[in-house]
Amino acid sequence: MSKARLIADRDFAVGPIDRRIFGSFAEHLGRCIYGGLYEPGHPQADAQGFRRDVLALVRELGVSVVRYPGGNFVSSYRWEDGVGPRGQRPVRRDPAWTSVESNQFGTDEFIAWCRTAGVEPMLAVNLGSRGVEAAGDYAEYCNHPGGTRLSDLRRAIGHADPHGVRLWCLGNEMDGPWQYGHKTATEYGRLARECAKAIGTTDRHYGAGEAPPVEFIACGSSHRGMPTYGAWEREVLEECYDHIHHLSLHQYYNDRAGDPATFLARSQEMDAYISEVVAVCDAVKARRRSRRTITLSFDEWNVWYHSHGAERLVPPWSAAPPILEDVYTAADALVVGGLLISLLSHADRVRIACLAQLVNVIGPIMTRTGGPAWRQTIFHPFALAARHATGTALRTLVESPTYACGVGPAVPLLQALAIRRDDGGVTVLALNRDLAEPLDLELDLRSFPALRPTGWQVLHEADLQAVNDERHPDRVAPRGGGAVDGDGRVFRARLPPASWSVLTFAAG
Ligand code: AHR
Repeated sequence: MSKARLIADRDFAVGPIDRRIFGSFAEHLGRCIYGGLYEPGHPQADAQGFRRDVLALVRELGVSVVRYPGGNFVSSYRWEDGVGPRGQRPVRRDPAWTSVESNQFGTDEFIAWCRTAGVEPMLAVNLGSRGVEAAGDYAEYCNHPGGTRLSDLRRAIGHADPHGVRLWCLGNEMDGPWQYGHKTATEYGRLARECAKAIGTTDRHYGAGEAPPVEFIACGSSHRGMPTYGAWEREVLEECYDHIHHLSLHQYYNDRAGDPATFLARSQEMDAYISEVVAVCDAVKARRRSRRTITLSFDEWNVWYHSHGAERLVPPWSAAPPILEDVYTAADALVVGGLLISLLSHADRVRIACLAQLVNVIGPIMTRTGGPAWRQTIFHPFALAARHATGTALRTLVESPTYACGVGPAVPLLQALAIRRDDGGVTVLALNRDLAEPLDLELDLRSFPALRPTGWQVLHEADLQAVNDERHPDRVAPRGGGAVDGDGRVFRARLPPASWSVLTFAAG
């Protein structure tokens, strides 16, 4: 039997957990919007055409912010196409996904959907085919109170109050040669800076009480394996450092090799990626002798491989084709749980993160058009973390046996994080990467006033390939982990093999 130990001191903090780490992403791609968020005529649709069953699952998931409208889609998007009377909105080609876009769902519908779902909107602007003028116009339409052409257009359409959008992504994956309007780092960094100026970087642009100040996210690399990785971040930051708040990171993980031991260790690569981008941000900060610190927006992350390439089998120029519809396994849920631990462990620098995406397209929620909605396996670790991982992430010491795999020669069997909640309690997230054996975990929380165990939810399936589908929507779900022994300060729990757990403790 392997043994591992976790030690956390209540005063040794990484930092407060920003709720925006529990963000997601809705792109005009496949059936994410049409047949996902929006399906007028569906028995569950409300008066605005929003699926109530999906809204209920989004609330249960605990999503805080939703990024929109892309993704690769945004790089040829004309936001004006999606506002105003529906009958006058043009149908366009979307070159990113070789689909056609009806524009029946646009910015105003998205903002209304966010208000109904109780999430904060995060808008991406097109820095591929468009630039400064369109970005400024979009901000005028969304955020200006009134008395200008575009704010009055919004008011005339029926939205008297400004949308008050705080989070603005300056383009998407602009380092990628596949991106419509792909740019060099210097070209992009300058454009990002000028678009930030056009959208408005200071309270002066808005006036007291009119709208919240804005936060800008500039594009980092599309993933850690890009040939320009590192240099891209540095060159972009040199151009726009004083105008932006966050730099983006994107990464999708897979088990194409059929090697679950390596797959479960991928969160170590996410840790390294975050640390490397922090190092580049701080190197630019030092060179500029700046007092400003750039934080991170990991605004696309997930497992993605089951459906990879299947989009090429769909006839081009279809409307809302069923593409990128990964059906997630129990193993994927464990990996997503590990990735969540990594994001939260870097709470000092990761302020925003978006599980990509929300519905149908590599999403935690799946629907059948005209039919029901259900929870994919990856829904569960996200929902549990969003509910219980609130407060302050602690510097968590883990003593664990290690194993060798494709990620490295000595990967700890245990990945874990302790969180000091604001109610005085503690939450521990723990991944046992051992595929065959349970792990006896000792939780040393002796610096806290006496604690008592209040719950243990565990994701563990004998069959790592088990999935949830329309007929078996709850095949993979968290279950009670059993008793947690302890004396108020030191506790013991036997983690099942290949499992992800949330353990909670209350003060007193
Ligand atoms: O989320 C799917 C796609 O992955 C997004 O459109 C793009 O930004 C990324 O490459």
